[in-house]
Amino acid sequence: LKIASSLQWIEHTPQPYAIKNFFNGSATLTSGGVANLASDKSIDLAANAETQGLLQYASHKNIRMIYTIVDVPYRIVANKASGITKLSDLKGKKIGTMPGTSAGYFINQMMANAGLKSGDYTVVSGNVCMKTPCGAGTFPQMISNKQVDAFGIWEPAVELGANALGSNAVIFQNASIYREVYSLFTTTDKLKDATTRKSIVAFIKALNQALDVFKNNPDKVYQTVASAVGMDAAVVKAVWPVHKWSGTLASDLVDFMTEEDQYLAKQNGRATTSKTDIAAFVDSSIIQEAAAL
Ligand SMILES: *[C@@H]1O[C@H](CO)[C@@H](O)[C@H](O)[C@H]1NC(C)=O
Ligand SMILES: *[C@@H]1O[C@H](CO)[C@@H](O)[C@H](O)[C@H]1NC(C)=O
Repeated sequence: LKIASSLQWIEHTPQPYAIKNFFNGSATLTSGGVANLASDKSIDLAANAETQGLLQYASHKNIRMIYTIVDVPYRIVANKASGITKLSDLKGKKIGTMPGTSAGYFINQMMANAGLKSGDYTVVSGNVCMKTPCGAGTFPQMISNKQVDAFGIWEPAVELGANALGSNAVIFQNASIYREVYSLFTTTDKLKDATTRKSIVAFIKALNQALDVFKNNPDKVYQTVASAVGMDAAVVKAVWPVHKWSGTLASDLVDFMTEEDQYLAKQNGRATTSKTDIAAFVDSSIIQEAAAL
């Protein structure tokens, strides 16, 4: 199996752990994501947030979402010294995030829920940081320097930003408004090929075994995860509860992604993907076959 995945984030780490400890076949991880499924026929699987999945699915209807590795209810850290104690205080403020990613959508949803439209605050782009000291242009550094009043992105940048602010840090999180749904994707062509499908099912079984360790025995993996993505093990442990290791496809996914696609379609000036098409995007058959192995 050839798997395209960002190799930088905590979310991806059950894959190398499954390959090393549980998968009997041969699998290689290459840096990339779901976009590679569309451009490179040799890629069998790809891992990304649902956001990148939806962006690709809009023009590649043969892509399928087959497994959620982890749900991550992202967090926002804000600076109390900027006068922020509740989300609506972000009106008129500078908020760091990465537009065009799941984090950009997360900020939009959190702000909308607090009654703020996109013109009510300024989005500032920046970079993440995996380990202190965080350099110029990274969000933890930018919040310390007051270049932003708050920021929201995947971990551990939020944790490092909160550490930098100390008692001035205020955290906002609401899983019912938004969670990243970091998942595995493939194509209908790969699923139709009996040999490839068998390998994918076996890989999902191995991932289930990896997630069992991540959920129930995390002390065994903090250091491995830290080494894989260049973090300190203590910070991995601190942000562990933000990561809801999954192994399923949630029942609300079709509605959740239909709503998200409306936002993405508007951002990209394209037609929305219908709810019927999004239902076809989610294929739970591989999870069922892996459970029967
Ligand atoms: C999360 O958002 C929902 C929907 O707006 C709201 O009902 C709930 O009170 C929020 N929870 C927290 C902890 O703010
Ligand atoms: C790997 O092979 C062993 C021995 O045949 C088997 O017990 C195990 O279930 C296999 N693991 C996976 C993930 O298929």
